[in-house]
Amino acid sequence: MTQRKPIIGGNWKMNTGLESGMHLAGCIVDGFTCGDCCDVVIYPPLPFLQAIESVIDTSELQLGAQNVWCEESGAFTGETSPTMLQEVGVKSVLVGHSERRHVLHEGSALIAQKVAFALVKQLQVVLCVGETFEERESGNTMKVVLSQITSGLANISSEQMVNVVIAYEPVWAIGTGKTASPKDAQEVHVAIRKALGEMFTEEIASQTRIQYGGSVNPDNAAELFSCEDIDGALVGGASLSAESFTAIVKAAYNP
Ligand code: 13P
Repeated sequence: MTQRKPIIGGNWKMNTGLESGMHLAGCIVDGFTCGDCCDVVIYPPLPFLQAIESVIDTSELQLGAQNVWCEESGAFTGETSPTMLQEVGVKSVLVGHSERRHVLHEGSALIAQKVAFALVKQLQVVLCVGETFEERESGNTMKVVLSQITSGLANISSEQMVNVVIAYEPVWAIGTGKTASPKDAQEVHVAIRKALGEMFTEEIASQTRIQYGGSVNPDNAAELFSCEDIDGALVGGASLSAESFTAIVKAAYNP
């Protein structure tokens, strides 16, 4: 791990109920003892955000949202603006998650608009990128990932990069129990950092945090975090257990 502060996200996806989500958040708060060592953000389902904020608001845990819209208000049925999210305590948003790209068919233009607008509104943006199994098998991993990076950050200034985190999540590793090997993940992280250096500056590239996501669990976290360019994780399934998630958080600041 380098001097970049690790960041661990817990993406709950469409899981938990109100009571169980509040309970889970409370247990994560109890297990998180070192806010100086690591940033920890949880991304509960939208309807529970306010209730969960009430559980974590005096802790060092941060609240995130799994999605955001790219306009302030208006006729956008079912969508939620950055300001609405901020009113209930949200500090961070996921944009371009593979389930939104592949299940909800969000395209790169919309993703770029979401990134840009959320940053204007001072939210932290976690831009998620990653290749499918077919893309990896056909040798196109770097091409796909780097194109998602360049299009996703196309409208972003160097100054705004301080609020950007990248999450590299190979689609074939999400929810499958298959994790990219630390060597393969590190290789993609290095390529992403190089691309950030070309788009912005070397300094910005070296300061930007790049999380790995895809079947991260307490058994594989420490080895992933020991890679120089892996600055934390975006965790799905294992974030639904306070015990597993807390173990992953601890591995990030003591890899
Ligand atoms: P899993 O950890 O369940 O593979 O999910 C990863 C993910 O999609 C986090 O955003």
